[in-house]
Amino acid sequence: MSNSPSPQYTSRLVNRIAPSGIRRFFDLLASMEGVISLGVGEPDYVTPWSIRETAITSLEKGYTMYTSNSGMPELRQALSRYLLDKYGLSYNPDTEILITVGVSEGMDLASRAILDPGDEVIIPDPCYVAYPANVTLAGGVPVMVPTSCENNFELDIRNIETRITPKTKAIFFGSPSNPTGTVTTRESLLEIAGLARKNNLIVISDEIYSKLVYNVEHTCVPTLPGMKERTILLNGFSKAYAMTGWRIGYAAGPKEIIAAMTKIHQYTIMCAPIMSQIAAIEALKSGDSSAAEMVEDYNRRRLMMVNGLNEIGLICHEPKGAFYAFPSIVSTGFNSEDFSERLLFEEKVACVPGTAFGQCGEGFVRCCYATSMANIEEALNRIRRFVLRHTEKPAKRKAHPVKK
Ligand SMILES: Cc1ncc(COP(=O)(O)O)c(C=O)c1O
Repeated sequence: MSNSPSPQYTSRLVNRIAPSGIRRFFDLLASMEGVISLGVGEPDYVTPWSIRETAITSLEKGYTMYTSNSGMPELRQALSRYLLDKYGLSYNPDTEILITVGVSEGMDLASRAILDPGDEVIIPDPCYVAYPANVTLAGGVPVMVPTSCENNFELDIRNIETRITPKTKAIFFGSPSNPTGTVTTRESLLEIAGLARKNNLIVISDEIYSKLVYNVEHTCVPTLPGMKERTILLNGFSKAYAMTGWRIGYAAGPKEIIAAMTKIHQYTIMCAPIMSQIAAIEALKSGDSSAAEMVEDYNRRRLMMVNGLNEIGLICHEPKGAFYAFPSIVSTGFNSEDFSERLLFEEKVACVPGTAFGQCGEGFVRCCYATSMANIEEALNRIRRFVLRHTEKPAKRKAHPVKK
């Protein structure tokens, strides 16, 4: 008999959340060879050299200590200038910006800073795996709002409105979206903003993919009328500058909320790593041309992936941001889990079942196209073979080619 503690020893809040459905899958494939991974949502580039070199030099010079809890003043000032230049948003670097260990920490801090037990938070379904988990861990209640492929996975204002109760504290979402690649339109955001103002709600806006948009504009939520004072803007360096391993991001928002987030941060994290902060300053200074080149490449891969999936008969709406395609696999007769598992074992292609991102992800899988064109081509060949084998009559649906 095992002597390990049973769930009665672990917190009820923790027992309430499931392990990430993304990780579960990747534990499965860790032992397999020859797998093409369309799985983990991570750039396949290394961080641009100018950024790495600056960090190396900082280590050589002995920058190895703690920084201020809020983050290095130089980085906060650089971010304040960046937000002003890019969006016309004025954030005080001393009181309204906090440097975090990635957007991941920002999401946790934001949830814990604003929620009391039982407070409700509106979240789109499907969504990034951490949104409901963070809300639950903060004692809040995630209230999932269904979105659908027919509606381009946009949040429908009527669906939000019917779920607002006196306990609703916030709306938590990200645009561009992981897993759907949807870039919420300015019109939709204006409607959501109106609802937030009317019902005195906070918006936690995860804008980590803001630079990864294709032929559309990304709208930064606090730029909308009356929203700067009720939005916690979360962003970071992981995706745009290929800096996932540096674990660096930031939160910008009203000073009372940033102060509350800083309180938690100072007792749990102290500060983000100094070398990553120095690297982030350099990314803001010199990283944008490399970021733009990566985005051009992602766009080519996006077109190949989306058109390829549609040709195979896995109908895929056009993802206008991030680096994910979210095709329907309903035509194969499999559910998302079975499709993903069998594709992995039979053809060695890893994707993530849509259900990892919520119930409304059933019938879909997430394919990350942040991998080489050769990998995408081979993955599509394998998926085609798999679909033909398992579909009695190959799906004769109309493909929807995505134009450049
Ligand atoms: C939507 C979204 N938000 C946040 C994160 C976490 O970002 P970070 O590396 O900055 O913690 C991810 C990572 O995949 C993501 O997809």
